[in-house]
Amino acid sequence: MTKLKEKYGEYLTYFEKALKELCMQREIFPSVLAESMRYSLLSGGKRVRPVLFFGGLEHFGADYRGETALAAALEYIHTYSLIHDDLPAMDNDDFRRGNLSNHKVFGEANAILAGDALLSEAMCFLLKEGARDARHQSAAQYLAEAAGAQGMVAGQSADLLYTGKTGGEDELRFIYANKTGKLIAAPIVMAAYLCGGDVSAAEKFGNCLGMLFQLTDDLLDEKGDSAKLGKTTGKDRQEDKLTCVKVYGMEQAELLADKTAASCHALLGALGGDPFFSEMIDLIRSRDN
Ligand code: IPE
Ligand code: IPE
Ligand code: MG
Ligand code: MG
Ligand code: MG
Repeated sequence: MTKLKEKYGEYLTYFEKALKELCMQREIFPSVLAESMRYSLLSGGKRVRPVLFFGGLEHFGADYRGETALAAALEYIHTYSLIHDDLPAMDNDDFRRGNLSNHKVFGEANAILAGDALLSEAMCFLLKEGARDARHQSAAQYLAEAAGAQGMVAGQSADLLYTGKTGGEDELRFIYANKTGKLIAAPIVMAAYLCGGDVSAAEKFGNCLGMLFQLTDDLLDEKGDSAKLGKTTGKDRQEDKLTCVKVYGMEQAELLADKTAASCHALLGALGGDPFFSEMIDLIRSRDN
């Protein structure tokens, strides 16, 4: 078994159990709110962000088992972003993680509220963890900023702004860096903060990995298998989204993904290299889901 398969499996098993425990712990009323939150949180997903966080903690020499709440905060924020991303007012997608989208099951209003509640619960985790010490404070602050108007939400806003419009490389880079890049970089940067690692090198590597992640997301929307992806393909073209496929064409976009993967490997070198992250870059480049 490769280092990545072994570690990914270990992190995933640990995280799934911890996440389930955490989200069942709190009593939530009305039950429709609890059900809609849990429907999306516990419906699978690759858990890439918590896995990157755990890998980052081990890279910098810490035990990942002590940071479950921050890992959960990453996944709560990411899951909320997916619920809202699928809404008719945004990407209007009926499927997510191989199931019906949240709003298809619970209705639009409940889906909006499930997203709101997941974000607020994540902020509770961040405040609580941030109070532990200065390093946790920095890590929590970084994630809070990456989620909002300096990060994912800004990227989503730009994504909508350029839907059906012309845009080039600069606009695409802004969208990628914010809607996806910040929440992919955050776990690696948070790990660096928590362990006293090189935050700047972690951020550069994380940002590059985030670019690669959205490049392959766009490529898979064009060429992927919806059964494997658990979401409808061909939607970006249909909605005239500003994607790498639209800006560069398929062939050049594939080459850009190769080049970005190579840049990720070079930036990982500045972090001292790491077999887990090295395989992670290749997995993100070649993924089919
Ligand atoms: C999808 O994220 C949305 C993007 C930021 C590209 P993931 O591909 O990580 O989705 P899940 O969590 O595995 O469902
Ligand atoms: C979404 O990008 C990024 C988010 C912040 C959720 P996409 O709209 O391309 O993600 P998918 O393809 O729906 O998962
Ligand atoms: Mg979208
Ligand atoms: Mg979408
Ligand atoms: Mg997509």
